Amino acid sequence: MKHPAMDSMASEASRETEAILLEKGRIVDGSGEESWIGDVLIVGDRIQAVGLDLRNELPSGVKKDRVGFVNCEGLVVAPGFIDAHTHDDAIVLHHPAYLAKVSQGITTVITGNCGISLVPYKTEVAQASLTLLGPGSFAYPTMAAYREAVTEAKPSLNVAALVGHTTLRYAVMDDLERAATAEERIRMAQLLDECLADGAHGLSSGLFYAEAMPAPASEVTALAHVVARHGGVYATHMRTEMDAILEAMHEASDCAFEAGIPLIISHHKCAGPSQWGRSKETLPLIDRLAERQQLAFDVYPYVAGSTVLREDLVDGVIDVMLTWSDPHPECAGRLLSDIAADWNVDQKTACLRLQPGGASYFQMNEEDVARIVSHPRAMIGSDGLPHDRHPHPRLWGTFPRVFSHYWRERKLFSLEQAVHKMTGLTARNFRIEERGVLRGGAYADICIFDSSRIADIATYADPERLSVGVVAVYVNGQLTYEEGGKILASRGRMLTRGNSSRQK
Ligand code: ZN
Ligand code: CU
Repeated sequence: MKHPAMDSMASEASRETEAILLEKGRIVDGSGEESWIGDVLIVGDRIQAVGLDLRNELPSGVKKDRVGFVNCEGLVVAPGFIDAHTHDDAIVLHHPAYLAKVSQGITTVITGNCGISLVPYKTEVAQASLTLLGPGSFAYPTMAAYREAVTEAKPSLNVAALVGHTTLRYAVMDDLERAATAEERIRMAQLLDECLADGAHGLSSGLFYAEAMPAPASEVTALAHVVARHGGVYATHMRTEMDAILEAMHEASDCAFEAGIPLIISHHKCAGPSQWGRSKETLPLIDRLAERQQLAFDVYPYVAGSTVLREDLVDGVIDVMLTWSDPHPECAGRLLSDIAADWNVDQKTACLRLQPGGASYFQMNEEDVARIVSHPRAMIGSDGLPHDRHPHPRLWGTFPRVFSHYWRERKLFSLEQAVHKMTGLTARNFRIEERGVLRGGAYADICIFDSSRIADIATYADPERLSVGVVAVYVNGQLTYEEGGKILASRGRMLTRGNSSRQK
């Protein structure tokens, strides 16, 4: 089902033009401020102007017969969405079209989350947590080499990278079951420093994962001090999201506070039935900590999480759906309880037999998710795992679902706030310059959508389905996607902190 406005888009915007004028759309500019009906003029890779009736006020350098006019009546014109939490480091190189993301209106992905980044590490065979980035080798010892690879791959969307603490540990340590020595800390700091100098946006950690768990807080704090020198941020998958979640939040907060850098708590959730309702404790703590430091968090709008297959997450109570398994690929998409019943074993035993693998864990409570998504510091991040054979539906549906479920159905916040959580707030928190807002001079990353229709279609059973209602997506001024279609352009860039405007 195509919106009538799309016909004009296809015929006018795709022919060679000097400028594109998006007319009469509802301008939701990413700031969270009230929307209004107006026009957006794109010239080259930038937004030239946002205003009223721009057709009659084209700048002198722009000739009317060289403008592609796009009728956006009845549609929302918003900044392109920024996916605050991804593991897209490798997929943007190997499958640069990346329809799963652009089709949701996403124009920038933040990579290297949960302590696991492709850079700076070189190895032929990725193991354990590193397999989150997909099979294949780690080939990028420097951020400069990775940036070159991204530029060459020509992804459809922009990439902003974090450097993972776990990856740094792999790069300098021979045994990850202990804390780093003083020398190893120095070597990690040097590698991180180089990456940040090459434009990385900050540090991430995944203290929950076995290879980082033995690291004391001081090991991370030392790295956070390096980040401070470059004006970056610290994002963390905390040590735990279960019983000791408040302690884990204090640990993360102290680490960022001591170094004087902004903190981002990754995929905030209260995981496991014993934790349900605890967002009533965690969110007030976040508010309190935010009085002394810059603090935000990302969240995905689903009650199931997804990660590698771990027997400690299998409690026999919650549903666990297998997303992939090396020894038993045929079981992907099935419930662990059914597999266990077929094999006549308990779920933990089945889990061990299926490893290495991945799973979706139905471990959250809808009211916690609703409370967390609604919080003013909540940014939307998919945490999608693009290499899973049967991925969690968040990979294809996260951003539309926030509109369809939490805005349209549950009315938890305004349309403007929903967009802010995906754009302006995220750009500000991650210090991504000149994106995430619609205003003259900013980069022309734009998502045009139908707010009455936008919805996720991907489900747990059938997770690789295109969302609906995302009418058109522009990346760096180029029409990159139209609803239901293929990727039309590859103008994504590697964004580097501090000098993103100079990146070509
Ligand atoms: Zn994580
Ligand atoms: Cu993650």
